[in-house]
Amino acid sequence: MTQQKATNITWHEGDIAREERWSALNSTGITMWFTGLSASGKSTIASALEQALINRGSNCYRLDGDNIRFGLNKNLGFSAEDRAENIRRIGEVCKLFADSGTVTLSSFISPYLADRDACRELHDAAGLKFIEVYVDTPLDVCEQRDPKGLYKKARAGEIKGFTGIDDPYEEPANAELILKTAEKSLDECVEACVDFLVEAGAIRPE
Ligand code: ADX
Repeated sequence: MTQQKATNITWHEGDIAREERWSALNSTGITMWFTGLSASGKSTIASALEQALINRGSNCYRLDGDNIRFGLNKNLGFSAEDRAENIRRIGEVCKLFADSGTVTLSSFISPYLADRDACRELHDAAGLKFIEVYVDTPLDVCEQRDPKGLYKKARAGEIKGFTGIDDPYEEPANAELILKTAEKSLDECVEACVDFLVEAGAIRPE
């Protein structure tokens, strides 16, 4: 739990209620949180889903682990503490985006249960929906794909603390959706996400 550092601060309630914003924008906010090993397919699915949602006229935005580390989280590495802070910040960002009425897609390895649960609790406390999607791809498949050559480097000892090799990945216990990319096509995975978002009332059926 991150400590509140600033003192003498007061919460300022705005004049617009969430319902008023969402109804004026004709848009519903939600967070869809993709978790899984590197090269499991999180970013690929999230990108294709983003395209599908934008095509349907849905207000959607994607936050990607590698990309966010070039900016907002450029001061964080891959220690357990830094990964926790990475996920804490993104949980907060997702909450803001979802509150704004955006279908928010986040793709981070997010290897620790406690960090993901904290993001879920953050959303629950704010009355926002949080959908955890486990991109469940076996390590050997991820390692075979190895699009960035990072598993090879990790096996050679050139990268230390690589998730799945010499750093843990804690599988979700209560994911709303499990996508097995070794068995399903990209289109099928995207369709499962779209169906879930329709079911959750975040987007309209076509
Ligand atoms: S997380 O663990 O903190 O959630 P995040 O999703 O932001 O990770 O970033 C993961 C990406 O960083 C991987 O897809 C990979 O490209 C790169 N990376 C570099 N070093 C590591 C490492 N030690 N462990 C895992 N991913 C790493």
